Amino acid sequence: MLEHTFSCSVPAAECRIVVGHDIHRIMVSAIEKSKTGLIVAGSGFLDSWENLFREIEKSLPNVKVARVNDGEGLKTFDSYIDLIKVMRTCRLDRGSSIAYFGGGTVGDLTGFCASTYMRGIGLLAFPTTLLAMVDSSIGGKNGIDLSDGKNAVGTFYNPNIVVADTVFLEKGMEHQKQGIAEIVKYGFIHDDSIIDSLQSFSDYKALTKSPLLPDIVFKCIGIKMEIVSKDPQEMSGGRELLNFGHTVGHAIERASGYVIPHGTAVMRGMQIESQIASEMLGTKDVVSDLAGDLAKQFNIELISIEDDMKQKLLDAIKYDKKVRSGKITVQVVEHPGSCRNVVVSVDKYLEALDKWLKEN
Ligand SMILES: NC(=O)c1ccc[n+]([C@@H]2O[C@H](COP(=O)([O-])OP(=O)(O)OC[C@H]3O[C@@H](n4cnc5c(N)ncnc54)[C@H](O)[C@@H]3O)[C@@H](O)[C@H]2O)c1
Repeated sequence: MLEHTFSCSVPAAECRIVVGHDIHRIMVSAIEKSKTGLIVAGSGFLDSWENLFREIEKSLPNVKVARVNDGEGLKTFDSYIDLIKVMRTCRLDRGSSIAYFGGGTVGDLTGFCASTYMRGIGLLAFPTTLLAMVDSSIGGKNGIDLSDGKNAVGTFYNPNIVVADTVFLEKGMEHQKQGIAEIVKYGFIHDDSIIDSLQSFSDYKALTKSPLLPDIVFKCIGIKMEIVSKDPQEMSGGRELLNFGHTVGHAIERASGYVIPHGTAVMRGMQIESQIASEMLGTKDVVSDLAGDLAKQFNIELISIEDDMKQKLLDAIKYDKKVRSGKITVQVVEHPGSCRNVVVSVDKYLEALDKWLKEN
């Protein structure tokens, strides 16, 4: 068993974060100590880890479990109301907590319910996907989707504890490996030793078998915590470094009708953004080859942007919610491990992207 722990202060909350391998006893003990009345568990997680979850459940006879159908379809007003009603039925009060086991979709819904039920109750986060461990469970964002806007309704609300058990990453590999793109992003924006570590594995399966995995997850969480603690509610712009690969990545996801998975879109997004920065600002593209090699290594498709997607991609960026007063912040990786934000006009950005799309 491996374990790393750190505590951090964020406005109005103390959050303990534990990362390790085979550490579900820490989850059980956190639940026991926190007046947790309800566990929300994602269906995909439960189906993959039924025996282990039954063990956890057995040691917590007084805690109710709500199974939810995970996936993006979970993040709706209907699911929100359903879960709030279950919380009510379980008689959760201001002193209670709610816990979740699941990926980013389960975390986003449960976090939103925890933050709004009785104006906020305790939240315990047990992320079970790689993306949820290194990204969505950290930083306090939660939310649900509207028919015309992903994550359109939500709050900032930090869990009291996050426990990331990398044992859960050994199943559902086809989806789990998508989280690699976020890890690569942390390598480019802050710590190139993460990229060096990733390069030493033959594929995702080898990574899940390695004792280095908790260290890598821990490093990524540390980077996200460091960045969000400077801008906890996305007011000062400090969080923007985390967007590297995501402006174009989100646009690719949107232009594809969310058929292209997030990690695939972000991996390609990092390459395209670096090439556009090079065109607009004359910077050196130090990202494309390295990201391309890592994508091949972890079997993440390097998609080509088909003609029928090109206009949709430009439109998605034009109407991106990060565009403020005609300006957009782009991330420029100077060398792996070092990145800076540069504000440019959105017209200039669209012009460079249009040129890229015509040439590729
Ligand atoms: N709040 C934030 O800061 C933030 C940041 C990034 C992404 N997100 C959100 O996260 C969501 C995506 O999260 P995700 O990628 O975890 O998707 P997800 O929650 O849909 O889970 C992906 C799949 O993995 C399965 N699964 C979960 N745990 C498993 C396990 N241990 N073993 C096997 N299968 C398992 C699920 O059943 C599901 O099919 C999106 O809605 C996105 O908007 C939020």
